[in-house]
Amino acid sequence: MNEKMSMSMEIKSEWIEAFKNVFSLCEIKKSEKVIILSESSSRRVNIEIAKIALGILSIDYTLLEVKSKMNEGPLKVSTGASNALNGQDFTIKMLLESDVIVDLTCEGLMHSEATGKILKSSTRIMNISNESPEILCRLTPKIDMKEKVKNSLEAFRSAKNMNIKSESGTDLIVSVEGSPIVGVWGWTNRPGTLAHWPGGLVACFPGENTTNGTIVFSPGDINLTFKKYFESEVKCIVRNDFITEVQGKSLDAKLMRRYFESFKDANTYAVSHVGWGLNSEARYEAISMYEKHEINGTELRVIQGNFLFSTGANEFANRFTEGHFDLPMMDCLIELDGAIIVKDGKIFC
Ligand SMILES: [Fe+2]
Repeated sequence: MNEKMSMSMEIKSEWIEAFKNVFSLCEIKKSEKVIILSESSSRRVNIEIAKIALGILSIDYTLLEVKSKMNEGPLKVSTGASNALNGQDFTIKMLLESDVIVDLTCEGLMHSEATGKILKSSTRIMNISNESPEILCRLTPKIDMKEKVKNSLEAFRSAKNMNIKSESGTDLIVSVEGSPIVGVWGWTNRPGTLAHWPGGLVACFPGENTTNGTIVFSPGDINLTFKKYFESEVKCIVRNDFITEVQGKSLDAKLMRRYFESFKDANTYAVSHVGWGLNSEARYEAISMYEKHEINGTELRVIQGNFLFSTGANEFANRFTEGHFDLPMMDCLIELDGAIIVKDGKIFC
């Protein structure tokens, strides 16, 4: 679907209901300062739906749109690391003074350099993933997701070590003790927090020198930067947080190596976040159903029982880079201090 078509797309009443539902869960009050933040490449239909839904709820808002930046580095469809606010001091100042940001930027503010500062100002950020509204509507947050995420958070935050294994040879150990661990259930009503929709995820941003071992991507695992499923095995060696080798002669291995190299930035190879998905309604086959520009892949990040391994920006380790791979791996065994947490796609906490 091209941009012209998306602009003329009929807005369905159920999409408006879904947006209203999320804003209601965020408990946005009429007295709060709300900013709808977008960029020139944002999906226009979602901006329109957000405006309509807030209007129905009688919530005033300010529209703030920044110009999308040109690709300065290598080509990209999606990296997961937003540069929309880089150098936008005037915009950031306004965001700092707001109570709620309805984040409709293309990549979302999850890994943006400005995000830490914005959250410290007690602003809450509700990121609506740059997806087709059909996907958002299908994955409208359910109340029970909060409890599922909280259960996983409790287990994760009380653990010292996380171990991930797979039949194809993945064997990674992450010392998670003391590292920030976040949970996303799909909405936020708490000042100074960020949520994304679709939600259903826990993620740890490991500190320095905490991650070691081997990752073996198998056919059927997912590369969300390329928006494709792995069709062959790719082995990555991880030493003290950094991928030191991407092994294999397959096309998947070559593509990953080339993309990593193209950033000419050591931080691109570092571990960004590790965690697992909790959304049983997220569909594994989704990226085979859409054109690449129609989908952002957040649905795949939250698939129940996937091990989400990501490289690149890790704001908690003070590493910033535009190179970011989100790599959901299926059928991994995840253990916390030796206790099984995820096995065969099922959650045991
Ligand atoms: Fe990520």
